[in-house]
Amino acid sequence: MTGWTASQLPDLTGKTVLITGGGRGLGLVTARELGRAGARVVLAVRDVSGARSVDFDVRRLDVADLDAVRDFAGSWSGALDVLINNAGVMDIPASRTAQGLDVQTATNYFGPYVLTNLLLPHLTDRVVTVTSQLHRTGKVSLDDLDWRSRRYSRMGAYEASKLAVVQFSLELQRRLEAAGSPVRSVLAHPGIARTALAAHSRSNVINRLRFLTNDAEQGARPILYAATQDVPGNAYVGPGGFGGLKGYPALGRPSKAGRDTAAAAALWAATATLTDAGQRVGWTTAASRIRPSR
Ligand SMILES: NC(=O)c1ccc[n+]([C@@H]2O[C@H](COP(=O)([O-])OP(=O)(O)OC[C@H]3O[C@@H](n4cnc5c(N)ncnc54)[C@H](OP(=O)(O)O)[C@@H]3O)[C@@H](O)[C@H]2O)c1
Repeated sequence: MTGWTASQLPDLTGKTVLITGGGRGLGLVTARELGRAGARVVLAVRDVSGARSVDFDVRRLDVADLDAVRDFAGSWSGALDVLINNAGVMDIPASRTAQGLDVQTATNYFGPYVLTNLLLPHLTDRVVTVTSQLHRTGKVSLDDLDWRSRRYSRMGAYEASKLAVVQFSLELQRRLEAAGSPVRSVLAHPGIARTALAAHSRSNVINRLRFLTNDAEQGARPILYAATQDVPGNAYVGPGGFGGLKGYPALGRPSKAGRDTAAAAALWAATATLTDAGQRVGWTTAASRIRPSR
């Protein structure tokens, strides 16, 4: 894996990739490189006008709005080779979505959960979910996934959401294998990348620590690697250098909580109830529901 860059992407002609939040930051670099390699790239973004300059199929999606996610997935037609759950927010003040959910948790976790489940019948290759090394300090509260009975913590909600997607990816892979699906669930993280993600943070530490951080090109590499290389289900791809912060893409290991299969199953069940997705997804129906549709 040493030395891998986007210049080594394979020919992706004929592949369709959906990237959430691809209008800027790591998603935009990922989209640009996949498009350069020949993929048909669909961007799901909040602000369609802001992404117009980009030469892709740009569609409106606020991934925190679960009704919008359902409409978006319901209108999808044809095969989807790769779904990249990239959209995310960090360290934002408390606010609620149209469905009354915590915006930070809904953007980073509930939305990707519902979107992935509803798109599974179309998926042929893999789901890449973007997480963070900060999942290691995350704590998922099964009793209060939506920050209702605790005092809201801006970074606590971010870290919890990034652990939640690690556990989500783990349980998804287990379910895909159990159903005999060829689709893989993998994780990617960029280390620390200088994007607009920290725009809401009171500390500007990320932008000061240039020697420890990546630019968006470097930060997107693990996502591109996870999306296109022959990695196993449950792969955790990030920078291979010290602390997983910098370096070329390499396989790493999530935290102990991120590898806890029982916790992942319990989180999945709690999330299905909370988002109502369980009734719509059909995991309890025929396995063919989650096989490629073509
Ligand atoms: N940068 C890092 O150091 C770092 C580290 C670990 C993990 N990550 C993860 O990497 C991913 C990409 O982040 P980034 O660094 O590229 O940050 P970024 O530059 O702030 O980009 C985030 C993207 O997510 C989109 N987004 C936010 N809320 C959305 C919503 N409700 N619906 C649809 N799109 C939404 C944003 O769209 P708008 O333009 O509409 O706001 C933007 O395109 C995130 O999941 C983040 O948690 C980043």
